Amino acid sequence: MPVAFLDLKGQYKEIEAEVASALARAASSGTYVLGGEVKAFEKEWADFCHARGAATVGNGTDALSLSLNASGAVRPGLGDEVITPTLTSAYTALAILNSGGVPVFADIHPQTYTLDPRSIEDVITRRTRAILPVHLYGQLADMRAICEIAKRHSLVVIEDAAQSHGAFHDSGRIGLYGHAAAYSFYPTKNLGAFGDGGAVVSDDLAFIEKVKTLRQGGHLQALGGRIAGRNSRLDEIQAAVLRVKLKYLNEWNRRRREHASVYEEALCQSNGQIKIPAAIAPQAHVFHLYVIQHPSRDRLREYLDARGIETLIHYPYLLHREALFHREGQPALPVAESVGRNILSLPLYPQLKREEASEVVGAILDFEACR
Ligand SMILES: Cc1ncc(COP(=O)(O)O)c(C=O)c1O
Repeated sequence: MPVAFLDLKGQYKEIEAEVASALARAASSGTYVLGGEVKAFEKEWADFCHARGAATVGNGTDALSLSLNASGAVRPGLGDEVITPTLTSAYTALAILNSGGVPVFADIHPQTYTLDPRSIEDVITRRTRAILPVHLYGQLADMRAICEIAKRHSLVVIEDAAQSHGAFHDSGRIGLYGHAAAYSFYPTKNLGAFGDGGAVVSDDLAFIEKVKTLRQGGHLQALGGRIAGRNSRLDEIQAAVLRVKLKYLNEWNRRRREHASVYEEALCQSNGQIKIPAAIAPQAHVFHLYVIQHPSRDRLREYLDARGIETLIHYPYLLHREALFHREGQPALPVAESVGRNILSLPLYPQLKREEASEVVGAILDFEACR
């Protein structure tokens, strides 16, 4: 049985009628950008994240880069450095470049794949201004340890929460532990729009207002001057869709966790070559992606492909190795180097059928048996 890596049509079917009426409401309102739907969604998203405020923007990359600027951490052109893990979407590092900062890469934790606090201090310099941890694959980074280091060195912390909608910190907060958390609503995310979208959440309402200024030209009426902003706004259609989907986010995350348990239970029976993802605290992982490690990753991937099972690699390149991000004096990042060779993302999304999940694990166990 073929298994697609992701199929969003099933999700649409579940909410088709509600979405149709939300789209009609947005279309008939006569306001199409930053109107009532956006305003309502910003309030609902801030409430969901237990944050005091939210500002929507055009995409997750802008949510990150505008946060770096609005917090004052990155002053364009001054060589301000931002520490982030080497294993993440390239957009994380591109957001730092777009803000006018310099991405500096640190290593990851071998079990959680997220930024390893122990490697942060190795790359702190007098130019370091911020830490940008990524809640990779849906699992929250070790924010307590990261924030302690940030405090010691007076650094801003902006969380890349593009893959972790709905994940809880041990404090009970959703997705906010540092200065601000930045989300992407790209269609494939746990909360995805019908196009691009992003948001920043924070308890600092002055910061939220600054992001709102920067997302739209940067005109500061109160001061009468202009700061360098950009055009990065959420439209009403996306906000209307997100408002519908937000009602289902907890349930969809529950189903993701359920599929992850099916995978975990079955893959534990293999001969020990497969490493399954470690969920440090169950509520802190929303399984945006289910990423295993296998020493024969490429051969396993080919085998699954021949059986019609789609897999992907998140991510095929470590960012510190890319020419665009090259820096003299970059320390070795041995954990990411070794993990990066073995990672493989399996199909996992809320509407995945039980028999599809069984097909995936069955094929992996067959591969193991015939090795
Ligand atoms: C970890 C991470 N950071 C940032 C982004 C950027 O989000 P967007 O594609 O909405 O700009 C993404 C999504 O691609 C992501 O997965």
